[in-house]
Amino acid sequence: MSQQVKAVVALAKGAPVEVVTINVPDPGPGEAVVKVLSCGVCHTDLHYREGGINDDFPFLLGHEASGIVEAVGPDVTGVAPGDFVVLNWRAVCGECRACRRGEAQYCFNTHNATQRMTLAEGEGAGTELSPALGIGAFAEKTLVAAGQCTKVDPKARPAAVGLLGCGVMAGIGAAINTGAVGRGRSIAVIGCGGVGVAAIAGAALAGASPIIAVDIDAKKLAKAKEMGATHTVDSSRVDPVEEIKRICGETYEGAEGADVVVEAVGRPETWKQAFYARDLAGTVVLVGVPTPDMKVPEIPLIDVFGRGGALKSSWYGDCLPSRDFPMLVDLYQQGRLDLDAFVTEEIGIGDIEAAFEKMHHGDVLRSVVIL
Ligand SMILES: NC(=O)c1ccc[n+]([C@@H]2O[C@H](COP(=O)([O-])OP(=O)(O)OC[C@H]3O[C@@H](n4cnc5c(N)ncnc54)[C@H](O)[C@@H]3O)[C@@H](O)[C@H]2O)c1
Ligand SMILES: [Zn+2]
Ligand SMILES: [Zn+2]
Repeated sequence: MSQQVKAVVALAKGAPVEVVTINVPDPGPGEAVVKVLSCGVCHTDLHYREGGINDDFPFLLGHEASGIVEAVGPDVTGVAPGDFVVLNWRAVCGECRACRRGEAQYCFNTHNATQRMTLAEGEGAGTELSPALGIGAFAEKTLVAAGQCTKVDPKARPAAVGLLGCGVMAGIGAAINTGAVGRGRSIAVIGCGGVGVAAIAGAALAGASPIIAVDIDAKKLAKAKEMGATHTVDSSRVDPVEEIKRICGETYEGAEGADVVVEAVGRPETWKQAFYARDLAGTVVLVGVPTPDMKVPEIPLIDVFGRGGALKSSWYGDCLPSRDFPMLVDLYQQGRLDLDAFVTEEIGIGDIEAAFEKMHHGDVLRSVVIL
């Protein structure tokens, strides 16, 4: 059996997304059907629509969601109907090499639903959908692996905590898990959208200082400051590498850059800025997602050697949803992590294209679809 619901799909590369009817199968072994309450619009959804992730169209978009478990498969014990959950794209397997060596945050075999949701109408009826990041939550209901449902406090606001499902977790984790910032450490964040500002909020939680926000948009920098940045750099006006070096040198005598530079744009030129804005033995954390055509910028190998440190990438902020989501929801409810500040606007399921458009204008950290 299956049920039919409304959902947002990207049918072809570059084409505007459409609200259509899809089939959601009843959950089989290891699966759950979730009634979606909220789903944030992440830049990665736009990457999917533009064919920047892969060519497995049609995509069922949306992946930063909260919801209520409606039904679970026969063998599922971890969640039950009625549970309030944040959906994650890291349902760890427990059996791969990474899991076995105790590094489940790198799990090489994360779980998604086995059955496929399909288009229910028109010429393409029956076509299998590729859910964005194995979630697909711009939909009234979605089918996921049960392990993708992380239970959190049901008193929390869905639109706010749902953002932990992708961008906010990716940003916070890039700073505190991958970059391991803390007291006595400096950080610069290049690109202050939802992900970058979350990295700033995470760095502030961890006690890092200075926290330098870099963007080409003054509105984004103002938001970054509200969320914990101690300094802002408009890189459309000044050289961000020189500014980061100057600011860090003022705080720590002899510092020649930041201990950690988070790149939250996903472009070669900003990655290069991050590379050179580090102090000796500092860390670059690439959390922005490049497109397949982009190359590592040309850098003398002697600079890679001579500056030491680490060049890292951060998938999903190296998070473990079962460990990190409830902890961050707790900090949110104590008033120590302002997740509400990321929710710039609540929109309807038909407003995704307009939300993509707004992403380019700098007024929005997150548009959140309310279902
Ligand atoms: N690694 C992960 O797990 C993960 C998870 C979610 C999103 N992402 C990626 O993170 C990136 C950011 O996502 P987002 O949702 O915050 O996007 P966004 O569009 O909201 O933010 C991007 C920001 O970068 C700024 N920017 C653009 N060009 C710049 C430049 N040359 N210099 C400085 N700033 C510049 C923009 O003004 C904007 O503020 C995207 O590439 C997205 O795909 C990665
Ligand atoms: Zn695993
Ligand atoms: Zn995302």
